[in-house]
Amino acid sequence: MKIRYNRVCPAAISGILDNRIRRWFQKPRKILEPYVQEGMTVLDLGCGSGFFSIEIARMVGSSGLVIASDLQEGMLRKLRKKIKGTDLEKRVILHKCEEDVIGISEKVDLAIVFYMLHEVPNPEKTLNELSSIVKTNGFLFIAEPYLHVSSKGFNNTIKMALDNGFTIVERPKIFLSRAVVLKKD
Ligand SMILES: C[S@@+](CC[C@H](N)C(=O)[O-])C[C@H]1O[C@@H](n2cnc3c(N)ncnc32)[C@H](O)[C@@H]1O
Repeated sequence: MKIRYNRVCPAAISGILDNRIRRWFQKPRKILEPYVQEGMTVLDLGCGSGFFSIEIARMVGSSGLVIASDLQEGMLRKLRKKIKGTDLEKRVILHKCEEDVIGISEKVDLAIVFYMLHEVPNPEKTLNELSSIVKTNGFLFIAEPYLHVSSKGFNNTIKMALDNGFTIVERPKIFLSRAVVLKKD
């Protein structure tokens, strides 16, 4: 029998992902401002309880769209509760993906994959699918937690992205993180 360590951050502790302390050292708007514009369609893959999705929804405005996708229904439920009855409800599509399949048909201008790829069993497959979801000349923003992902591990992730048709645009500096922004050729 194959025993696999479950590395997925449980929805029950989503409070550690969305709180005032994190917001103090990682400001979603400041991090994403250079890449998000009004009217864009943005995929937030592994959205959790929506730490980034909510701010992205404000930034894309009423003409834009956010696809907030997560493996765990519990995370999506928390995000749904946060936006219920607000203007943002109309521009956020909640999408439940599978462990190895994102499964959306829309093409996006930008995909955000924040602190998620190290939880995926087959990141190469995810990056391959992302390359067909991100529009040509669109962007992919990947960030991983500094303490969970080594420099070597992150370079390996970047290599997989390059092998799947992306090129490096920038290496943003984000506290406690390793990050890269790539462009789809
Ligand atoms: C550490 S949390 C980060 C959440 C959010 N991006 C943030 O920065 O606050 C990782 C999220 O990725 C999700 N996740 C893990 N594996 C996944 C997969 N294979 N497909 C989609 N989501 C996944 C988890 O359910 C969890 O919500």
